[in-house]
Amino acid sequence: MKYHVLCLLGIGYLAFQPGNSYRKGAEKSSHEWKKLVLTHHWPVSVCKMSDVACKNPPNYWTLHGLWPDRAESCNNSWHFNEAEIMDLLPEMNSFWPDVLHPNHTQLWKHEWQKHGTCAATLCILDSQHKYFGNTLDLYKKTDLSSVLAKCGITPSSKYYKVQDIKNAVEKIYGVVPKVQCFPSQEQGVQVLTQIEICFTKELQPRNCTDAGEVHQGVPNRPWDSIKEELCVCNETLQTYYPPIGQQWV
Ligand SMILES: *[C@@H]1O[C@H](CO)[C@@H](O)[C@H](O)[C@H]1NC(C)=O
Ligand SMILES: *[C@@H]1O[C@H](CO)[C@@H](O)[C@H](O)[C@H]1NC(C)=O
Ligand SMILES: *[C@@H]1O[C@H](CO)[C@@H](O)[C@H](O)[C@H]1NC(C)=O
Ligand SMILES: *[C@@H]1O[C@H](CO)[C@@H](O)[C@H](O)[C@H]1NC(C)=O
Repeated sequence: MKYHVLCLLGIGYLAFQPGNSYRKGAEKSSHEWKKLVLTHHWPVSVCKMSDVACKNPPNYWTLHGLWPDRAESCNNSWHFNEAEIMDLLPEMNSFWPDVLHPNHTQLWKHEWQKHGTCAATLCILDSQHKYFGNTLDLYKKTDLSSVLAKCGITPSSKYYKVQDIKNAVEKIYGVVPKVQCFPSQEQGVQVLTQIEICFTKELQPRNCTDAGEVHQGVPNRPWDSIKEELCVCNETLQTYYPPIGQQWV
């Protein structure tokens, strides 16, 4: 009951900053996009998905990226430059690590080139420092790990229903997320791996689905070293949210 109350009280507590100016002409480009997808992943699951042995994965949801939908690699001549984000590195290392590799630079470079150069059509994200800095801010405000815990969704050896996880997110943020899993060895079980929360260009939360749009289980392979495919979680399967250090099922 306590969790439930906290969940309900959570509605609207997030104060997202508006920022509504775009660069002129961006709308006309072939890279037109409509929403920003703040993608979080559960490090324990990411490690389980891959062949790489992770060392001490964080025990909280970390950032995968901030992705404009429908646009990728918008400016290949705008190279990633870590020197521009030196002051952000302590937070980048904590909240936006490459959970599969000790050197996180490749992930950040990839995220900037594939997604950041497209997000940069917005004034609030039009430099590397703004893109990474504002994404970190959005991640901290979203505070997904605490939100799930307050709603009683914690890593556990028991299984969840996907709908319970989605309901928790919806109660707090008031919008429908996209929740992704990969299949477990155990029949009828899938592993919770990625949660996407979508935002408007003004950085206000919005549904990840468009009106009338149904989420397809389109596979997506987040890393080359990952063999399994990530799909939208199947509503009918049991969902495992693996605790750190737990034996794999
Ligand atoms: C691509 O990025 C480069 C380097 O920042 C910049 O000079 C150029 O104007 C950008 N091109 C477009 C089409 O935005
Ligand atoms: C991490 O990788 C980048 C790019 O591959 C490289 O420039 C950098 O020196 C590496 N950093 C460390 C600490 O090894
Ligand atoms: C978001 O999705 C929920 C549940 O499907 C729906 O009730 C609500 O109207 C949607 N909101 C918007 C702004 O489309
Ligand atoms: C969900 O899983 C059930 C049981 O394995 C399967 O029959 C069904 O086709 C799956 N649904 C989707 C949308 O993949």
